[in-house]
Amino acid sequence: PLPVVLDGDPGLDDAVAWLLALASPALDVRAVTAVHGNVPLALTVRNAGVTLALAGTDRPYHAGADRPLVRGAVTAAAVHGATGLPAHNLPDPTQSPEAEHAAVALIRHARAEPGILTLIATGPLTNVALAFRLAPELPGLLREIVWMGGSTTQGNRTPAAEFNALADPHAARIVFESGVQLRMVGLNVTMQCIATPERVQALRDLGNRAGAVSAELLTFYAAVYRERYGLRGGALHDPLAVAAVLWPELLDWAAMDVQVEVQEGPNFGRTTCDLYGVTGREPNAQVAVGVDDPAFFARLLTAIATLP
Ligand code: BDR
Ligand code: CA
Repeated sequence: PLPVVLDGDPGLDDAVAWLLALASPALDVRAVTAVHGNVPLALTVRNAGVTLALAGTDRPYHAGADRPLVRGAVTAAAVHGATGLPAHNLPDPTQSPEAEHAAVALIRHARAEPGILTLIATGPLTNVALAFRLAPELPGLLREIVWMGGSTTQGNRTPAAEFNALADPHAARIVFESGVQLRMVGLNVTMQCIATPERVQALRDLGNRAGAVSAELLTFYAAVYRERYGLRGGALHDPLAVAAVLWPELLDWAAMDVQVEVQEGPNFGRTTCDLYGVTGREPNAQVAVGVDDPAFFARLLTAIATLP
């Protein structure tokens, strides 16, 4: 199995993404690291422990950055509920978080197996950027980073910016400029992957706790997506980043230069994607530009079915 570290801000779609990863025998989840984001860090750390318990597994989990590198925190409690995991009957964490900081843990895992470790990041990139500053050799030690964030088109938190990019654009810029092997799974593909009422019912019908909780989380999400975007349910943003590692063939990829805007103003946090190569700059990322959404959901469902 492929060694991975999961870094994110659960957050209900982060939780579903992590359930997918923890359910997949093709992945060996070495550790889970939490960052500020959808809800404050204290909650994302607790939710990391809850998600591990939901998956019926005990892996080390670590707290990371409680705020972006430069600006104040941006949260998304309106989308993810006050706790970040709006569901009943959630198990308590079975273990406490590790004392080691997320960024330090990431460096340790990458150094232990140079060139082998994949990082799946589904939140603001603060922990990753901190790790890159602490260990400048880290970009060359990772197999790759797959990040849910950014967009080749419009944003969701502002007209220009996707939430994870907006929540720490300076960190995202450090990562995009680092030379690390990087794949970006942005809104342009994740907004095509909708947890429709039929899909939510299919998760519920699995009859296990992971399916029931996933269904409840995605139901909470659906109202916002109906009102704000006119969609039939919430978008499966973060699970698609895990799917991109498990089944890269389900997405179409294009190499391009991506610049993260850090100037204050209407484009703050925008990922400007040079889809047509007009700048002549060397690509710094493989960007997802298409997705086989039915196949993705079918495989997600099959994986969640294997959990308690
Ligand atoms: C991203 O923002 C968060 O709210 C979600 O968890 C996802 O990672 C989508 O823009
Ligand atoms: Ca997230």
